[in-house]
Amino acid sequence: ASLKALNTFGIEAKAAFLATFHSADELRLILESTEIKNFPKMILGGGSNLLFTQDYDGLILKNGISGIECIREDEDHFYVKAGAGENWHDFVLTCIKNGYAGIENLSLIPGNVGASPMQNIGAYGVEIKDRFDHLEAFNLETGDVEIFSGEECEFGYRESVFKRKLKGKYVIVSVTFQLLKKPDFQVKYGAITTELEEMGVKELSIEAISQAVINIRNSKLPNPKDLGNAGSFFKNPVISAAQWKKISAKHPEIPNYPAPENEIKLAAGWLIEQAGWKGKRIGNCGMHAKQALVLVNYGGATGQEIYDHSTRVKESVAEQFGVELEREVNIL
Ligand code: EPU
Repeated sequence: ASLKALNTFGIEAKAAFLATFHSADELRLILESTEIKNFPKMILGGGSNLLFTQDYDGLILKNGISGIECIREDEDHFYVKAGAGENWHDFVLTCIKNGYAGIENLSLIPGNVGASPMQNIGAYGVEIKDRFDHLEAFNLETGDVEIFSGEECEFGYRESVFKRKLKGKYVIVSVTFQLLKKPDFQVKYGAITTELEEMGVKELSIEAISQAVINIRNSKLPNPKDLGNAGSFFKNPVISAAQWKKISAKHPEIPNYPAPENEIKLAAGWLIEQAGWKGKRIGNCGMHAKQALVLVNYGGATGQEIYDHSTRVKESVAEQFGVELEREVNIL
């Protein structure tokens, strides 16, 4: 089966077998069936954060668990549960339509609901961990569905326990968000205020913020339907105070943000642009002309070609700034 439509890079890779499951029970049945017991298996979500560098000689199981439901409310919150296979942006729009506030800043992020806690997706001043209640995950070893609290997910910047010590051990089944009855507008991010002004918005609303975010993202980030990509290819690097002292002495203009434990987060997009890679095409790929942090497939690139380009960029930034970029995208 072709995986081209199942990864936002649009890489032409193949899997020996492909199946979709619609519930944890269905997944359990598939995994228990004797015919496929000895096959290598891989679980796939929205395919928006991964790069296939080779064909997969096994069974790919696509998460197709759907459903969006407000399961409980208290004075200030709606607790909204979504199936892991729901498209993230459609989920955000459903919440906005129902007046469930709190994730409007996360509009238009590609991928599925199940991937959102995996890497604690974030944009424009909001991260999923701020609106998270709990999730259900299928334990691949025992076949049981277990509940994880926010604390148990060990969220960090683009990080969770599912990318670290529990990597490959669980399949996220559903995520329940704690959303707000009274909106708490997050407009500290400069680009949002500017866009709201340009839109002529007089009174803030979750619809207006969502639209502002959509406009900003559309202006900078390529739509995977037109140009294969997986959003930011690298994480923004976090460096020590000592290293910051050295770098800022040489490059006082470098964009920087405070990070936990006295560390400093730098803008990888800036570093990549300064290193000369923005809008520069090599073969079938390159760093996007409007946002240097996004590696794009101009069509026909192989996963290996994209990976090699990322290595080139990584080495060049390390050479020029002494900063190590870490890939955000999962490589297979
Ligand atoms: N910059 C440049 N050149 C570029 C790109 C950025 O100089 O080509 C500078 C900008 O001028 C700005 C700074 O870098 O001073 C930050 O840029 P931007 O606001 O575009 O955000 P980012 O740090 O590049 C992060 C997230 C995005 C998220 C935005 C908005 C990461 C790895 N990326 O990007 O998330 O949408 O902030 O909050 O943290 C994603 O993870 O896939 C993603 C798109």
